[in-house]
Amino acid sequence: MTPSCPAAPRVARVELNAPPVNSLGIALRRHVVDSIRAAETDPDVVAIVLIGSEKAFSAGADVSEFGTPLQFEAPMLRDAIATIEACQKPVVAAISGVALGGGLELALGCHARVALASARMGAPEIQLGLIPGSGATQKLPRLMGAERALAMMMSGQPETAAQLSASGLLDRVVSQDLWDTASALALELAQQAQPLPRARDRTVDVAAVEAAVEKAAARLNKRQRAQPAYQALLDAVQASALLFEAGMQRERELFLALMTSSEATALRYQFRVQRESAKLPPSLSAQPRAFDHVAVIGAGTMGSGIAIAALEAGLQVGLLEQSAQALERGVARIGEHFSSRVKAGKLESAKAEQLQGRLHATLDWSALSAANVVIEAVFEDVAVKQSVFRLIDQHARAGAVLATNTSYLDINAIAAVTSRPQDVLGLHFFSPANVMKLLEVVQGKDSAADAIATAMALGRQLKKTPILCGNAFGFIGNRIYNAYRKQCEFMLEDGAWPEDVDQALTDFGFAMGPFAVADLSGLDIAWRMRQAHAATRDPRERYVHILDRLCEMGRMGRKTQAGYYTYADGKPSPTTDDVVRGVVVRAAAERGIERSPLAADVIQRRALLAMVNEAALLFSEGVAHRAGDIDVVLVNGYGFPSWVGGPVHWARTQPRAGLEQDLDRLIAANGFGSVRATPAMLDRLLA
Ligand code: COA
Repeated sequence: MTPSCPAAPRVARVELNAPPVNSLGIALRRHVVDSIRAAETDPDVVAIVLIGSEKAFSAGADVSEFGTPLQFEAPMLRDAIATIEACQKPVVAAISGVALGGGLELALGCHARVALASARMGAPEIQLGLIPGSGATQKLPRLMGAERALAMMMSGQPETAAQLSASGLLDRVVSQDLWDTASALALELAQQAQPLPRARDRTVDVAAVEAAVEKAAARLNKRQRAQPAYQALLDAVQASALLFEAGMQRERELFLALMTSSEATALRYQFRVQRESAKLPPSLSAQPRAFDHVAVIGAGTMGSGIAIAALEAGLQVGLLEQSAQALERGVARIGEHFSSRVKAGKLESAKAEQLQGRLHATLDWSALSAANVVIEAVFEDVAVKQSVFRLIDQHARAGAVLATNTSYLDINAIAAVTSRPQDVLGLHFFSPANVMKLLEVVQGKDSAADAIATAMALGRQLKKTPILCGNAFGFIGNRIYNAYRKQCEFMLEDGAWPEDVDQALTDFGFAMGPFAVADLSGLDIAWRMRQAHAATRDPRERYVHILDRLCEMGRMGRKTQAGYYTYADGKPSPTTDDVVRGVVVRAAAERGIERSPLAADVIQRRALLAMVNEAALLFSEGVAHRAGDIDVVLVNGYGFPSWVGGPVHWARTQPRAGLEQDLDRLIAANGFGSVRATPAMLDRLLA
């Protein structure tokens, strides 16, 4: 009789396999619970490794279940985590790709965590108006210390495992062999005599929790104070000083109260419409053309910002200028950007060199032939742009996508000077182009579907939010912003001071008020545009001269230390001065208006109604393909508060009859030339 060989101790592999990102819907939660229980009772198994896909350990709760009964169907994520914590055999999380939100919490429930250095981990709930709801607010302070834990949850931004390697969150960070390392660690834990380690059992430094919460509370800014999730997060972390179960209970209560808040509803809506907006309507579905080389014409602030974004996306970048000096300035600006990133520890110097090695600065138009995408970023004047496009047409290779970075001009007029209008479209970047997420992709009348698809793909590669827009004055964003800004100017004549308007709108949640924005971008830019349109303006239209008067006095905004506000050391005066007030009072008197103060809620409502009216008009003209696209533009490019969702989402929350009545009143007061969106247009917009 031969003695039977004892089976080698086996590590069970529990795979998370719910593409694309292993979001923790009911099916995956069931799978985790069933697989852990099966492995626990399998006599051949001594330890368990929980592993996801290359792309994702798990992107967290399934957002599409939010607001449906499925979210609360057992086993809930908390139950799955409790199953792991109660398991008698060690469970190790092997993390690659992302571990976000509930995905991070699942990993926190494991007895140990191993991650690839490139894995990205974080708690993005705050960006959805929530706090973590399955233990992160209690466990992160225990593992990382309250201050670091709060910083992670307040920012909502993921960090790489490499960045987190010394934080206490991870047991091992590896550059390869994830499975081998995780299973070896699982076996090691199985052989130890002491109880399995669990984040929930760690002691918490009560004094450190209190100090961290107090410090974070003192630092909350206005936008954070406007969103209940930030205070709730502080309260939940404060509760980590209690016994673990009491803290968990508090986290749950706070989470559930937030779930139905208007802010969380609006942020979930933004999550959905942002993802929808990246998809082209079926009539435009086409394969993008291949691209790896972008040529940027014009090395000014905008051109160099676009070049930086393209370099950071790993593309070859040609930078073309007319004069050697302008080119040198552009190259220097790009160099400064990369060296400051290196200095700030955000980029390794070898990587910075590698990225900049792909920059080809030139004065030679023939270099354009290397590019598959050409982006013109020269002076905003149609004649200047047309002359540049004639040259592009001579030198660009066949099939290259030719884009103009205009914010207002007619794409068709620019495309018409080329022999290939099907390749021409608009790419409206926002300044600074390497920072701002929004990118309006403007479709000319002849733009080919595959050219549009290429522009959208390029936008995604540049890590932007590309939005397809029709070719009409101001596209989506500037068209609505113009209507809003005009309304704010009317309010000056009617009785508000610039600071009243700015204050009311920042109180509403805008990042900045319109007059502070105007000072920042320079009043002369708007002045030049007004002069360009003066000839076509109907004299019966209500036109506010205040900005023109300020410019005539040399008050161009921040750059001249005076505009609507005055500036000392770059800081604006809290109120406007007598000069500005005099200009405002005279403008009102010339129009025969008796000024009377406007309350903050009146200012807010008038500004929002102006936006909604314009949104309905442009939507009826087909300038936006989906109503949600308008909200994505306003939130991502114009500082509209994301927790209000956007003007369309806001309007959907308003009683309709009141909206119609107030719009009647607003348009009547605007006077000649102001067009009211019809109820049918509003129906379509708000459907
Ligand atoms: N729940 C449900 N679906 C999700 C999801 C989640 N938590 N995270 C991503 N998805 C879906 C997206 O809607 C998209 O679906 P689609 O292809 O049908 O449009 C798909 O997964 C891919 O996501 P996308 O964002 O387009 O891919 P990406 O590679 O650019 O980014 C992530 C991947 C995971 C980094 C990103 O999707 C993300 O940050 N998700 C949110 C994570 C989060 O907030 N979790 C906490 C929830 S409380």
